[in-house]
Amino acid sequence: MAEYLNIALPKGRLGEKAYDILEGIGFGCPSIREQNRKLIFENEENHVRYFWVKPSDVAVYVERGAADVGIVGKDILLEQGSDVYELLDLGIGKCRMAVAGIKGTRLTTDKTLRVATKFPNIAREYFRRQSMEIEIIKLHGSIEIAPILHMSDVIVDIVETGTTLKENNLEPLEDIVPISARLIANKASYQFNYERVRKMCEKIEELREKAK
Ligand code: PRP
Repeated sequence: MAEYLNIALPKGRLGEKAYDILEGIGFGCPSIREQNRKLIFENEENHVRYFWVKPSDVAVYVERGAADVGIVGKDILLEQGSDVYELLDLGIGKCRMAVAGIKGTRLTTDKTLRVATKFPNIAREYFRRQSMEIEIIKLHGSIEIAPILHMSDVIVDIVETGTTLKENNLEPLEDIVPISARLIANKASYQFNYERVRKMCEKIEELREKAK
């Protein structure tokens, strides 16, 4: 086993959960637990190398082959339309993409709907299928503020517990798609590392079965 398997993890809680799964199936890298600001960790014994990257960059590293596999939210995959293999639903990071607005908001087709979102492609595609005219207002966070300040009519955003919406007097209006973390692979590297990556998938599936 000469080559290292390069794994891109999303920085943050989701990445830590994903690492726990990978450690649990024999892809551990103990140095990653050290509390420091390093971004790359290797385990010489089992030839794995982990990178902590910004969640929205994981698929970029994988698509370009800098990482062989990665863990990424389905929201990001849908938004970026990345050219990678989606191998497995890890069943973590579960939430949903939804349209939300101030309580009592009605979605009407009589005027162009102003949609604030971090996910313009997902929003455009959703409203295109509903044959609704929209104007996208691209934001990078705290999306919930936009309808409160009447900058947008609705938002398209991630809803996990629903607390952020509730505490800002907003409500979900329509669900777009369920979201969870996915294991993805670079297309060329998947052929090259087929045995190892398939084994990784099988073990994760076994672990998920046991946890049911
Ligand atoms: C996400 C999302 C919502 C919130 C939903 O925001 O954009 O604001 O979580 O979670 P909840 O339903 O459990 O309240 P994030 O924390 O990523 O921050 P952001 O405002 O920068 O998008």
